[in-house]
Amino acid sequence: PPVEDPELERLHLERYPDPRYSKLRAAIGGLRGVAADEVFLGNGSDEVIDMLIRVFCVPGVDSIVVCPPTYSMYGVFATFCDVSVVEVPLTSDFELRPEAVAAALTPQTKLVFLCSPGNPTGKLLACSDIEAVLAASTGAVVVVDEAYIDFAEGASVVPLLRSGRYPNLVVMQTLSKAWGLAGARLGMLLASRQIVEILNKVRAPFNVSSLTEDVAIRALGQAATVACHVQQLLSERQSVAAAIEGLALGRVFSSDANFVLFRVKNAKEVCEAIAKDGKVVARYRGSMPLCEDTIRVTIGTYAENEQFLAALRKATQ
Ligand SMILES: Cc1ncc(COP(=O)(O)O)c(C=O)c1O
Repeated sequence: PPVEDPELERLHLERYPDPRYSKLRAAIGGLRGVAADEVFLGNGSDEVIDMLIRVFCVPGVDSIVVCPPTYSMYGVFATFCDVSVVEVPLTSDFELRPEAVAAALTPQTKLVFLCSPGNPTGKLLACSDIEAVLAASTGAVVVVDEAYIDFAEGASVVPLLRSGRYPNLVVMQTLSKAWGLAGARLGMLLASRQIVEILNKVRAPFNVSSLTEDVAIRALGQAATVACHVQQLLSERQSVAAAIEGLALGRVFSSDANFVLFRVKNAKEVCEAIAKDGKVVARYRGSMPLCEDTIRVTIGTYAENEQFLAALRKATQ
């Protein structure tokens, strides 16, 4: 290290990381009940999304299917790669429409992105609907983005992966949400050995730093503490949702994630007022399909939530 610092020296950053990330992949596999060679790691899930598109799609020829309202980066990365994006909207209750997805598939469809729980919907997709999409999409890889899955206990589709029934299933998770490590940048993809092997062949040799590896291994050893924090957050989420309901502004959507989506008249102005007066960031989501006049607020600490609710009351009184 360039400076005398025992902390830095302990990290041995003069060495490259383990190119196979064996220890970290085994730790993740152990936690999720899959083998280490069924785990692929990326610099956040965003890198994994980008890689899936680059690996499976031919620019100018192939397409992906997305189900809006959904996480915008699937479409952004596809567009960067000149891969076309076919949209099959969810229902107005934010449920998947498996028959409509099946009808949208063509021989050029290489990836179907499903987000569960959804961003910005907060809604978990029905496992039977995901299975129907998997069964229909034999020519495409179905990516289930479970970035928020730790807030929806026991609802992961990883057991479907373990069943071996769907070789076209890929599950993405991240340490950015429930694990509170967005700055560390660790995205995880769980899939068949064949898919993981293909991705490992094309990734940059050291796409995850040894700092991230170290932090992630330490965090994964604290799963019980994380589960405890998640429980606290879920109870806060319930209080915040009830307080918003109490203001009778419009529909408050039920949430399986760490945020709440709700409807309010003049949502954009309300959002701006909350940011200005309450110094709290709530996201205006009204420009997304099926989300007219909605705001998405992330659950924070008790004090932050109170601050948000006070600003919301003031902006809507
Ligand atoms: C649904 C969804 N997927 C993926 C990501 C990206 O996560 P990461 O921080 O792991 O890149 C986000 C971040 O907001 C997200 O909401």
